[in-house]
Amino acid sequence: MSKFNLYEDDEIRDLMGENLRPGGLKLTKDAVEFCQLKPKAKLLDIGCGIGNSIAYLEKNYDVDVIGIDPSEKLLNIARNNHPKLEFIKASAENLPFKSEEFHMVLTECSLSLVEDIKKGLKEITRVLKEDGYLIINDVYAKENTYLKELKKIPINTCMRSLHDIDELRFILENYGFNIVLFKDYSQYLKELMVKIIFKYGSMSVFWSENINNCMDINEFQEMFKKSKPGYFTMIAKRGKGNNGRNIL
Ligand SMILES: C[S@@+](CC[C@H](N)C(=O)[O-])C[C@H]1O[C@@H](n2cnc3c(N)ncnc32)[C@H](O)[C@@H]1O
Repeated sequence: MSKFNLYEDDEIRDLMGENLRPGGLKLTKDAVEFCQLKPKAKLLDIGCGIGNSIAYLEKNYDVDVIGIDPSEKLLNIARNNHPKLEFIKASAENLPFKSEEFHMVLTECSLSLVEDIKKGLKEITRVLKEDGYLIINDVYAKENTYLKELKKIPINTCMRSLHDIDELRFILENYGFNIVLFKDYSQYLKELMVKIIFKYGSMSVFWSENINNCMDINEFQEMFKKSKPGYFTMIAKRGKGNNGRNIL
């Protein structure tokens, strides 16, 4: 199913600001400081969008950064804004890197957009070094009943693919990760929704302008609300002896 990429829309990017997700660079800073990010560490940002997180990290932490994203449009903005940084067109499911190349992988509101999450996480496991960190800032559902229905809307937004935290934790632990931090940041999602309502008048107007009549807006909103959406940071540390080769 081909989907409209909401983040390529100029109006949406203006609304979101420096990052195309809730929480901005504060969450990036808090997460890398928790992991005690070292100078010269090699870091991959998966779904880097317009590249502001890696630009911030390269400037403030003297790290070696690469950003990947499947959107040519967003990558062009990233390349224009940060001409000295490296951006590659690629998806999480097929990472064009050697095994165990990175000390840290960031997925900021992008893992929820990965169609085949197991394949994406398998690739992440492969490219991370032993004891490397995976940082996930993303949306989740506090109530899981409607998640399959929500996924049916043909639009590329994290809001249709809220994580089931238990399932995410289960996959990561099976792939040899230890979850070293889980923190709820739902207030940032609320702040983004307030911004949307301020600009569009209501969430219904926002969705009807962006979902293109593909499903009943009220039905979608009802399922979204009942899913009790939240926002989180999860930090997972790759265990020893598992570089993704033996994972199903
Ligand atoms: C909500 S935006 C977040 C962008 C950026 N991480 C930030 O913090 O501003 C989600 C990004 O994930 C990208 N994306 C979508 N599907 C992806 C995939 N399969 N693999 C990697 N990135 C993907 C989108 O193109 C978009 O740039």
